[in-house]
Amino acid sequence: MKFFIDTADVAEIRDLVTTGMVDGVTTNPSLIAKSGRPMADVIAEICGVVDGPVSAEVTATDVDTMLREGRYLAGIAGNVAVKVPMSINGLKACKALSGDGTPVNVTLCFSPAQALLAAKAGAAFISPFVGRLDDIGAVGMDLIAEIAEIYAAYQFQTEILVASVRGPHHVVEAAKLGADVATIPPAVLRQLYRHPLTDKGLEAFLADWAKTGQSILPVESDAA
Ligand code: E4P
Repeated sequence: MKFFIDTADVAEIRDLVTTGMVDGVTTNPSLIAKSGRPMADVIAEICGVVDGPVSAEVTATDVDTMLREGRYLAGIAGNVAVKVPMSINGLKACKALSGDGTPVNVTLCFSPAQALLAAKAGAAFISPFVGRLDDIGAVGMDLIAEIAEIYAAYQFQTEILVASVRGPHHVVEAAKLGADVATIPPAVLRQLYRHPLTDKGLEAFLADWAKTGQSILPVESDAA
């Protein structure tokens, strides 16, 4: 399972890349707005830090402008994946951009029917938003299971990119369902490392170790 980081904060990405957990990045217009920086600069910088796909989203709603924006974004770096919204025009743009050889991420997916359309349009990624479904009382993970079943039945190559992740439980459930990718906010990725028993256990080990007065590395006087 691949982990993408869901942020446009380059400092966060640089830090998390050193964990070896970052297989790609997703951005959206809200995340770019939050960065307070020009979109092209942010995408270029992220692509310089991360080898895997970096999703950059078009903001036009008509096909021609979506295509112009998508091709411009794809020209920023070889690892840009162009993100288009789930709509008829978005799917037309998906088909054309995919035909160019550009990977396309179809975003704002909330139903299995939408995911089926995206796969038929040649999307490299489909982004079902599990957290936003949970927010309205639905079960976001049920959508992932339905998409996985449909894609497996027809051997679609479109990767299921679980988005709108709100906590470690979403990552674990996505993994159990065999999702290809989860795009994870930086704070949630850090939460994945944590467990209270790990913290408690380490505290006890270090306290016992301190009582021994030992050092694993030879002290200078011993080495001499
Ligand atoms: C990722 O591609 C999406 O834009 C993102 O996961 C949306 O998350 P949110 O629902 O927390 O805004």
